[in-house]
Amino acid sequence: MKILIIHGPNLNLLGRREADVYGTNTLDEINKLLKQLAKDLKVEIDIKQSNHEGEIVDLIQNSKQYDSLVINPAAYTHTSVAIRDAIAAVEIPTVEIHLSNIYKREEFRHTSLISPVASGQISGFGPESYLLGLRAAASIATHAKKGTS
Ligand code: DQA
Repeated sequence: MKILIIHGPNLNLLGRREADVYGTNTLDEINKLLKQLAKDLKVEIDIKQSNHEGEIVDLIQNSKQYDSLVINPAAYTHTSVAIRDAIAAVEIPTVEIHLSNIYKREEFRHTSLISPVASGQISGFGPESYLLGLRAAASIATHAKKGTS
């Protein structure tokens, strides 16, 4: 089973960026945790980060070889029809994740354009959101494969 993990814009700055909101873990540290969990779950993962909307659209369009996706679309969550349409187009089960609880924050963060095309959303658990997201992505991919989703 292969799962693609996509980190959106500004997540390369984790650890240095608004630590009170996003915590002190760097993206490298989160990626290490994800690789360890992938080993435990016996799934293969690829991890990408991009600050560019079109590049994220390309990653999603080129993700046909993956069984499921985990994406933190970051600020594009609230603005990107293009990323939403790409997820809808590829029809690969997708888990949307956020480090912070977007519903506890500014009102403009309360709307996700991605959620209606995602299998589900995990929001508010810091780095653990990614780990829960990977578990969910492995689980929904298994069900999709068996045709039991
Ligand atoms: C975020 C929440 C978004 O609102 C924000 O723009 C981000 C990160 C999160 O992980 O909590 O960049 O997706």
